[in-house]
This record gives sequence, structure tokens and C-alpha cells, in this order.
Amino acid sequence: MIVIPGPASQSLGFQIAKILNVAVAPVRFDRFPDGEAYVRILSSLENKHVVVVQSTYPPQDQHMLELLLILDAAKDLGATKTTAVIPYFAYARQDKRFLPREAIGAKTFCKLLESVDTDEVITVEIHDPCILDRIKKAGQNLSAMQLLGKHLKKTYNPDNPLIIAPDDGAIDIAKSMASVFDSDYTFLEKRRDKYTGEIHTEKKEINIAGRDVIIVDDIVCTGGTIANAIKIIKEQGVKRVFVAFTHALFVKNALTRMLSAGGTLLTTDTIPSEVDHISVAPLIANVFKS
Ligand code: R5P
Repeated sequence: MIVIPGPASQSLGFQIAKILNVAVAPVRFDRFPDGEAYVRILSSLENKHVVVVQSTYPPQDQHMLELLLILDAAKDLGATKTTAVIPYFAYARQDKRFLPREAIGAKTFCKLLESVDTDEVITVEIHDPCILDRIKKAGQNLSAMQLLGKHLKKTYNPDNPLIIAPDDGAIDIAKSMASVFDSDYTFLEKRRDKYTGEIHTEKKEINIAGRDVIIVDDIVCTGGTIANAIKIIKEQGVKRVFVAFTHALFVKNALTRMLSAGGTLLTTDTIPSEVDHISVAPLIANVFKS
């Protein structure tokens, strides 16, 4: 096995290779004068299982294309197997048509991965795990919730926390987080305007006075979902609020928005960010150990 850390996941790729004690293939990544991507692999990949680690956070299209170029080149160069480790899987929220005649980005990304003969796809907290069913070869979704939960427990020791999903789509990850604390979980009702993208969260009476709360989500994008949830919870006499999420996408003023809402933030390194984070490298490396 040999690991190629893509331009978007240099640190994470190196960490995975280090845990597995396998070599890293040196690669030259560059740009042609007109901006097109240039990739040259500087060591032999012949008869090797090549693991490419490349997250597809913004600029998504650029990171996706770099990933496809590396995977395609690896097979051309004699790799026997290619695994695409995509810590953050782009386009996963466009997994169906919300309005008539929309393009389904998640489907197209899966097709592109298949078109370069990718043998295996490993991702973390994909927005909807069903997306991976579109990949005919093996697709695996890992959850970072146990990692995040254990870190919260060790660092802050939340007191009998209630786990809250900011919408019903996050209920499974709330359940996973709740299992770390052997606690209960619930969810809020959220609606997103299909045209403007504006979010509305329904107020909900929850008995949390004097209790710690952990809000969980897969992605923080504009921060609106979490800011709304914090506001609703804070009105009800909560003790401490923790927010654990896997992907710090952080567009526009997301971080300021969440920090002004209050609460302790914890995320992972699927996307580089300035927020306190723990690495998913051991989680991903573990897949290759078994
Ligand atoms: C959507 O359902 C996702 O799980 C997240 O809740 C959403 O992407 C967060 O977006 P934002 O931070 O823009 O509210």
C-alpha cells in the first residue's frame, strides 16, 4: 500500500500514512499558466494499492478534479487497486431534485469516481449515506461522532447532557453521540426555503433547565442552523452548550455567527479550520488495519 495525500489533504494524508506505517508517494502538484491542474506522480505505483486522500471542500470543483486526475493516473501507472479517501464528500446535499429539473450533483460525483475505475470510496459523515449506494464498487461511510463525543467527555465532562440534532436529518448522529454519554437525544424541526435557502427553526419546549446540551451536526456551512438551535436552547435555561460537528465548511461569516450565539465548538480536520478540532486520521487508518 502507498498513500498519496492530495493537495487539499496534505496533513491528513501524511498522518494516515504515518499511523499505517506505509510510504507516501511524492507528487508534483502545479498549475499550467492558464490555471489548469498539473499532476505528476514521482514514484512507481506499479502493482500497488494506492490510497488517495483528498477532501473536496471549497473550491469543490477544483479539489474533485485533482482527485480524479490522481486516481486516473494511478491506474494508468499500474496500480492494482485505488481507494479514494474523501474526508468531506462534496455535493452530498444535492442528493435529489428539490425543484424540478435540477442537476443531482451527488450522483454525478459518484459517476465520475466510477469513470476513473476507483475501486473503493471511504468518506466521513456523508450528508446522506445512501449516496454511496450509487457507487457500484465498495463505498464506506465513517462517523466521527464517537471520536468527538469521547473528546468532549474527557475535556469538559458534560453533566448528563441532552444531545440535540438541529433537524431530523441529524438524528442518527445524535443517537451515536448519545451512546457515548448513555444519555437521551431529541431533534428540532427545521425548514429551509427551497428558493432562498433561508432557514427557519421551530421553537420547541425541552426540559433542559440546569442541564448541559450537546448540539450535533454533520456540516456547518453558513452557521444558520446551529445559531438558530443555540438561540432556542439558551432561552430555556440550559447550563452549558457544546456544538460538535464533523465538517467545518464555514462560508461567509459562519464562525462569527456561531461564536456570537455562544457555545463551545468542536470539529474534525476533514476540512482545515481554526476551530478546536480532533483528527479523523486514526478513524480512517483503522479501516485499512482490519
Ligand atoms: C443540512 O441538513 C445539514 O445537515 C446541515 O444542517 C446544514 O448543511 C448546515 O447548513 P448551515 O450552516 O448553512 O445552516
